Amino acid sequence: MAEFDYGEVVSALRGAGCVFAEEEAEILIESASSPAELTPLLERRIAGEPLEYIVGWVLFCGRRVTVEPGVFVPRRRTEFLVECAAALRPSVLLDLCCGSGAVGLSVGGVTELHAADIDDASVDCARRNLDAMGATVHRGDLFDALPPELHGRFDAVVVNAPYVPTSDIELMPREARDYEPHTALDGGADGAGIHRRVAAGAGQWLHSGGHLLIETSAALSDSTLDAVLEAGFTGQVRESEMFDAVVVIGSTGGS
Ligand SMILES: C[S@@+](CC[C@H](N)C(=O)[O-])C[C@H]1O[C@@H](n2cnc3c(N)ncnc32)[C@H](O)[C@@H]1O
Repeated sequence: MAEFDYGEVVSALRGAGCVFAEEEAEILIESASSPAELTPLLERRIAGEPLEYIVGWVLFCGRRVTVEPGVFVPRRRTEFLVECAAALRPSVLLDLCCGSGAVGLSVGGVTELHAADIDDASVDCARRNLDAMGATVHRGDLFDALPPELHGRFDAVVVNAPYVPTSDIELMPREARDYEPHTALDGGADGAGIHRRVAAGAGQWLHSGGHLLIETSAALSDSTLDAVLEAGFTGQVRESEMFDAVVVIGSTGGS
């Protein structure tokens, strides 16, 4: 078996400013079959590339989800969106702005899953993650991606759309700013531009008694809630200290 110098890998990562150097060293070593194979992986990480792109997966809701360069890396906070959706027990679910498809993949008990994204790399990656569960991944701008026969069919629509105000993108950590596509981050001038479009369009895709769940931030939650209320939903804001996350839930009338 090849001999890896764990201590050397940890100090190289620590020297490059990696906060979780020990965990990252274990993951990188596990991904390489020899020290020679490890060297270029380590060099990419030291140069600042996100670990998830280098190894090709991220741990999300307890399972390894495939991610590829150019595709948004699912964040731990988004596990709260999954938790909120799972509590509503949807059978027919739409994961809108799906990226890798991690959210739809993780809501259990779904019998019919659709996912959609505007970005080609994300659609391809979501198909890799979701094909095995028989999901359909659509490509296009928000609800324009969907065929009309899906009108009124969804129990829930889950959305982690871009919600960083344009001027705040430059304040994000370098890994996000430099490596993730800005179409995955940029929520427009105030951050809630896509939330307004999603809320305005969601009603006709949900059946009576259905729910729209949008991940947002503490700073933006009032704007996201307003968008949901203006679109005719009843709305509530759910917050999780543990996940440092906020989700706005809009509900249609009926049961
Ligand atoms: C913040 S990422 C979230 C990805 C995924 N939901 C997750 O939580 O990992 C936002 C995603 O929205 C997609 N997106 C941005 N604008 C869109 C639009 N107009 N229509 C559909 N998808 C869009 C991006 O390509 C990106 O994959």
